[in-house]
Amino acid sequence: MAQADTASRDALVDRFGRVHTSLRIGVTDRCNLRCRYCMPEQVEFLPRSEILTFEEIERVTRVACLLGVRKVRITGGEPLVRRNVTDLVARLARLPELEEIALTTNGLLLADHAVALKEAGLDRLNISLDSVRPEVFGQWTRRDVLPRVLEGIDAAMEAGFDSIRLNALAIRGLTEEEIGPLVRFARSKRLEVRFIEFMPIDGEQRWERASVLTGAEIRRRIEAEFGRLSERSRPDPSQPARDYVLPDGTRIGLICSVSEPFCEACNRLRLTAEGQLRNCLFSTVSWDIRHLLRSGADDASLMEMMRQCIRAKKRGHGTDDPTMLRPDLAMYQIGG
Ligand code: 5AD
Ligand code: SF4
Repeated sequence: MAQADTASRDALVDRFGRVHTSLRIGVTDRCNLRCRYCMPEQVEFLPRSEILTFEEIERVTRVACLLGVRKVRITGGEPLVRRNVTDLVARLARLPELEEIALTTNGLLLADHAVALKEAGLDRLNISLDSVRPEVFGQWTRRDVLPRVLEGIDAAMEAGFDSIRLNALAIRGLTEEEIGPLVRFARSKRLEVRFIEFMPIDGEQRWERASVLTGAEIRRRIEAEFGRLSERSRPDPSQPARDYVLPDGTRIGLICSVSEPFCEACNRLRLTAEGQLRNCLFSTVSWDIRHLLRSGADDASLMEMMRQCIRAKKRGHGTDDPTMLRPDLAMYQIGG
């Protein structure tokens, strides 16, 4: 009982009662693709000295675990371009409280790293794949490398990852024709595919409300071609996706971040590659935990900063509100 009391007192609970148990860790702002909706071709990346070391990331994660964090997701930029990222997975896998370590990748380097990541203790993989048509993939990512990504997906399956998800971004006027081929591809590999509404965190600031291809529309398109989608019950109530299944068993997810925000169930705290805590993807404020780490602060001070960051969290991100302020960072800088 005493232990439960301590746990609840120390938990990362915000003003709206949301308990934060998930930490998203950006490990780099670099990437080996240049997806048009995310990054400009020419980008200035952070100097190495401004990026948290693995020791620093491990420390933040360990302290976050003391406050109830049980799950981490490693993101970027592209996390696999950070040298030896497998070592970070291995370090995090040794933290006893962590129940799940996941990673989001564009898949380009997966063929080289899948086995090592699995051995290091990575539990889940999300692979971004917006098109399975080589020309379209090349146009969007500005790199003609679809075959390597597909090899990466196969390598991850062979390495024994059993819960690989494909993530596809949906943009009106651009991606409608990719939906069918992606569903067929996912079906042939027996993988789940999730479609994500375009959010206003694109590096080139081209987002506009009219460019959001909504989950409802994606659903109509899929049903017209493949039959009825039945909703599946959610294993995790704070997950952003609605899960469906087609009559043939193919699992489909829709992430309606703009048309139906899921902020009320959000349980995420974010750590950017340069060591800033953020309480929301759409936040314009950050907490400089790197400064604490590099000035000899104790664990209690780190915990206090995490609590402050969570206490300041707003009720919602407001992308459904036309007067919303754009976040100051793009996805590759915050960490998807
Ligand atoms: N809106 C929605 N998702 C985005 N991603 C990158 N930029 C955006 C955006 N503006 C997604 C990528 C990838 C993940 C890391 O973030 O498609 O799947
Ligand atoms: Fe790289 Fe991902 Fe951004 Fe594409 S969306 S440029 S793969 S970080």
